[in-house]
Amino acid sequence: MQTILITGGTGLIGKALTSALLAAGHKVIILTRNPDRYQESGKLSYAAWDPAAGTIDEAAIRKGSAVIHLAGAGVADKRWSVKRKMEILNSRVKGGELLCKALTTIPNEISVVVAASAIGWYGPDPVIPNPKPFEETAPAYDDFLGSTCQIWERSMDPITAMGKRLVVLRTGIVLAMEGGALAEFVKPLRFGFATILSSGKQMISWIHLQDLVRLYLNAMESGSWQGIYNAVGPIPVNNKNLVLTLAKLVRGSSFLPIHVPGILLKMVLGEMSIEVLKSTTVSSSKIRTAGFQFAFPTIESALNSLIKST
Ligand SMILES: NC(=O)c1ccc[n+]([C@@H]2O[C@H](COP(=O)([O-])OP(=O)(O)OC[C@H]3O[C@@H](n4cnc5c(N)ncnc54)[C@H](OP(=O)(O)O)[C@@H]3O)[C@@H](O)[C@H]2O)c1
Repeated sequence: MQTILITGGTGLIGKALTSALLAAGHKVIILTRNPDRYQESGKLSYAAWDPAAGTIDEAAIRKGSAVIHLAGAGVADKRWSVKRKMEILNSRVKGGELLCKALTTIPNEISVVVAASAIGWYGPDPVIPNPKPFEETAPAYDDFLGSTCQIWERSMDPITAMGKRLVVLRTGIVLAMEGGALAEFVKPLRFGFATILSSGKQMISWIHLQDLVRLYLNAMESGSWQGIYNAVGPIPVNNKNLVLTLAKLVRGSSFLPIHVPGILLKMVLGEMSIEVLKSTTVSSSKIRTAGFQFAFPTIESALNSLIKST
């Protein structure tokens, strides 16, 4: 049994990961800005940290054997005002810096840190269809998401210099019914509309939440894993295929496909529309070569399992 610290463990990925770690017999301490909101139970406890204030519960650091670092302001939660962009960036960078400072100054037995990053690192596919998938060696794209991911990942560099193992998972679009992108696609289906965004040709590099949870466990437990890995499924899908596959599973044949024009999305979402309009095809070949096997390799298997689970 190990004691795993999870920053941002109260979020979509963190909750699923916590359940899996507890089921595997580990202790979990969630580092949150609001520990008073949550109730300890069994092997699960909460400890305070606040990246903006630069404070962290020292006792939690002393108890931990591994850290999973997920915290950060939601990229798609609000329109990207200048203030929101600063919050998205600062929450990640200050979180990384605080964690590194804590691991340097507080005596601890932590040997491995697994940190989230995102496929926002990569730019748009240079050609559509059939682009060459982005490998981990591709440079960061020169836009807000690319720069944010670059600075975010760099904030974790000191971990390696401390002699601890660092694994960074550049995560694709996480498919889960509890939240994130899929929940947004399901909403209009309640009224019978399958909303295809723009041409629907933009590629989505996705991963099932349960595969991502297994990937985090794998990265934490396998001593040979080190460095950057793309956390995406083996078969990216375009927006139209994803939406229509989902619609058929949820409503059979009783739905109406509609295209939401890209210009409208740009007006409503502003710069954040890039999140839904950009085509990004990302390679999973490094994690597969490292031995990871997907429980949900196809979009049909992933959506089927998610819909059955509700
Ligand atoms: N879900 C996806 O599709 C996806 C895709 C690519 C990458 N990722 C990355 O994976 C990580 C986890 O994703 P998720 O979907 O689980 O995120 P989430 O549900 O939004 O949860 C993130 C957690 O971060 C903490 N947080 C929020 N705002 C913060 C701020 N301003 N300062 C410090 N902490 C803050 C919150 O914990 P407390 O309120 O308890 O402190 C929150 O529960 C994120 O870094 C995200 O960017 C996710």
